[in-house]
Amino acid sequence: MKKLSTIFLSGNGTSRSLECPILQSPLAGVSDQIFRRFVRRWAPKALLFTEMVNAKSLELGHGVEKVIELSEETGPIGVQLFDHRPDSMVEAAIKAESSGAFLIDINMGCPVKKIARKGGGSALLKEPELAKLIVKKVSKAISIPLTVKIRLGWCEATSDPVAFSLGLQEAGAQLITVHGRTRRQGFAGSSNWEAIKKIKDKLDIPIIANGDIKNSQDAIECLKITNADGVMIGRASMGAPWLIGQIDAEIKNQKTFKQPDAKMKINLSLEHLKLLVSKKGYHGLLIARKHLSWTCRGFEGATNLRHKLVRASTPTQAIKLLEDELIKLN
Ligand SMILES: Cc1cc2nc3c(=O)[nH]c(=O)nc-3n(C[C@H](O)[C@H](O)[C@H](O)COP(=O)(O)O)c2cc1C
Repeated sequence: MKKLSTIFLSGNGTSRSLECPILQSPLAGVSDQIFRRFVRRWAPKALLFTEMVNAKSLELGHGVEKVIELSEETGPIGVQLFDHRPDSMVEAAIKAESSGAFLIDINMGCPVKKIARKGGGSALLKEPELAKLIVKKVSKAISIPLTVKIRLGWCEATSDPVAFSLGLQEAGAQLITVHGRTRRQGFAGSSNWEAIKKIKDKLDIPIIANGDIKNSQDAIECLKITNADGVMIGRASMGAPWLIGQIDAEIKNQKTFKQPDAKMKINLSLEHLKLLVSKKGYHGLLIARKHLSWTCRGFEGATNLRHKLVRASTPTQAIKLLEDELIKLN
């Protein structure tokens, strides 16, 4: 594996550098501000992303909280936008930049039907000219760097990911993250790291490899195969906000990472739950359920605790369950 170095993005006036080559995926419904705060505890310098934001909605004033919150971020934060209308994308990107975005990312990979049917996300993989136009217009309108997140194409038969990526580079993209699956694949099969290498070989801008990286061994293997400038981690970080920092430390051979034990996982769950409830009230409990059931794994009594947690009908009950578990451990 080549030695990874700081990634420099020059932008259109404002340059940025990425000191950590391990990036946290944008994860709709997961990578909210509270989750990101936890990720930064282990990886303060990593580039994190907002959940994807609909550019048109932002223009109309919806989803604006995802952008307003940017001022509270303590590290690099990319705002990820989706839409197919270049002017809406421009408007939203300007708004996100002025709210403190570290960079803007355009989603060209989301397979969700509701989004692709309207021409956004992965539908842009079928429209290379429109994709280029969006990148060109947005990159000219902002001074911070513009990055794009893609899949390998709509379906294998019709896709030419190297040509598509070259077009984005030419249009002004400063970095491309590639999830090594086509839209048609969804999450089936495995991420094609060899195909990512083909893109890396032909492009001059930094390439981030994504798909199926669950630990530092996977990251090292993926970097070896793709020769990418960094990797992005998605699903494996759900319930494990320490993973970005862990992989970063392990690939650098630093022995600083302390494996999370039951006490740490329960304490983290308790903190997560309390933060969500103080921000969102009862709805916070509903959001917390999935995070707690991902985090409370891999220790004695975890299955039983998860079963009880999903049945807790009030925040107070859920908090008591976690506190009782901590007392047992002390
Ligand atoms: C629950 C969930 C939400 C996601 N939300 C987004 C999103 O908002 N924007 C995006 O570009 N990709 C999104 N993705 C895709 C991931 O960022 C990532 O590209 C994909 O999961 C492959 O990486 P992985 O194997 O490390 O999970 C999402 C994936 C999942 C499972």
